[in-house]
Amino acid sequence: MTTQPEIILVRGDITTQDADAVVNAANSGLMGGGGVDGAILRAGGPRQREARKALVERIGSLPTGEAAPTEAGDMPARWVIHVVGPVWSEREDRSSLLAACYRNALAVADELGARTVAFPAVSAGIYGWPMVDAARIAVESAASARTKVEQVRFVLFGDDAYVAFESALRSRG
Ligand code: APR
Repeated sequence: MTTQPEIILVRGDITTQDADAVVNAANSGLMGGGGVDGAILRAGGPRQREARKALVERIGSLPTGEAAPTEAGDMPARWVIHVVGPVWSEREDRSSLLAACYRNALAVADELGARTVAFPAVSAGIYGWPMVDAARIAVESAASARTKVEQVRFVLFGDDAYVAFESALRSRG
């Protein structure tokens, strides 16, 4: 049965989350970067790196807005669900691609059987998306998803992110 997931906010580091799956703000090449991606690659250790290599061998690259899983490696979570957020653009509205990251990650979580999923603020770091807008899209996408995931946990680094997500959650009532 699908329902709407409970949404909770926590401050902290996504790599230490005790959730069934953590979501990585990846790039299409999947082999690492800075921010969340670098932290997950380091924390997951050799098993995370090998699992990414195997994923790249299988799918080549991951398009923007899509999601694909690997095992987590040395983290409390069992899986990492990689998504590629859109780079912020002032000229073009890419909101639907950002919303797709959340929707597709939850669909992959359903396939895996994950019931708790931790998300970072996808695109709101190196990819430059303004935090208030990124938070609104994240909360709306998670709150409107039909999924078997029972808890969506937004794991936020820093006060700006926490305040933006809190206000997005409040404005949904
Ligand atoms: N835990 C939780 N949140 C984190 C962590 C962490 N360990 N590290 C960074 N953040 C926060 C950032 O402060 C930001 O608010 O996650 C949000 C997303 O930032 P990025 O990781 O930079 O992700 P994004 O903006 O989607 O950029 C993706 O960055 O690392 C590269 O390979 C990645 O090219 C891709 C790009």
